[in-house]
Amino acid sequence: MKRRVAILISGRGSNMAALIKAAAASHDFPAEIAVVISNRADAAGLEKAKAAGVPTAVVESKPFGKDRAGFEAALQATLDECRIELICLAGFMRLFTASFVQRWYGRMLNIHPSLLPSFPGLDPHGQALSAGVKISGATVHFVIPETDAGPILMQGAVSVSDHDSADTLSERILEVEHRIYPDALRLLASGQARLEGDICKTVASAASGNFLISPVVGE
Ligand code: GAR
Repeated sequence: MKRRVAILISGRGSNMAALIKAAAASHDFPAEIAVVISNRADAAGLEKAKAAGVPTAVVESKPFGKDRAGFEAALQATLDECRIELICLAGFMRLFTASFVQRWYGRMLNIHPSLLPSFPGLDPHGQALSAGVKISGATVHFVIPETDAGPILMQGAVSVSDHDSADTLSERILEVEHRIYPDALRLLASGQARLEGDICKTVASAASGNFLISPVVGE
């Protein structure tokens, strides 16, 4: 039985689209995208989801103001209606209460465009450039109450060049995001990822002989 997944978005939904595509592309994908939920009625991702034939729902967060628990009760009602087992946050720009996170612990993933625990929060690409790192990337992790933290399920890396701007770096990292999020969901939904305390271990874990070195010194 495929696990029933809700993708939560607030904006353009490119990671959402990558997850929908992967789930639709192969019969053996262990999850189905049962619903896309946005906390904003104007999220561009909603149209993309509809065009892909995925049910959508809007649970507006604005009317709840600072009443996060109130918003989460409305969200939970939609998740219950759709019999959701797993949640993927994909550019969902709303913080959760500890109690909502606890309820979904081990069953809710997020993606962030940096190699966590480096550069959580806002403007991770700018943070990476300011720090002068030579390698950055993207991380899929289990959600805990702390923002952009939690057991790491998968990471992908890109080299950072002296010529990068936040825009060019973000474009390159986005490609990695679209690659790793479906793979990470596959691992979780197929029971190949388990939590040991604060650490996530995966059946797929194997050292690949590849290096990523940056910058490359000319031959
Ligand atoms: C993605 O780059 C995602 O990693 C980031 O928001 C973007 C959403 O784009 N998330 C965070 O920064 C979480 N802290 P998308 O709507 O096209 O998937």
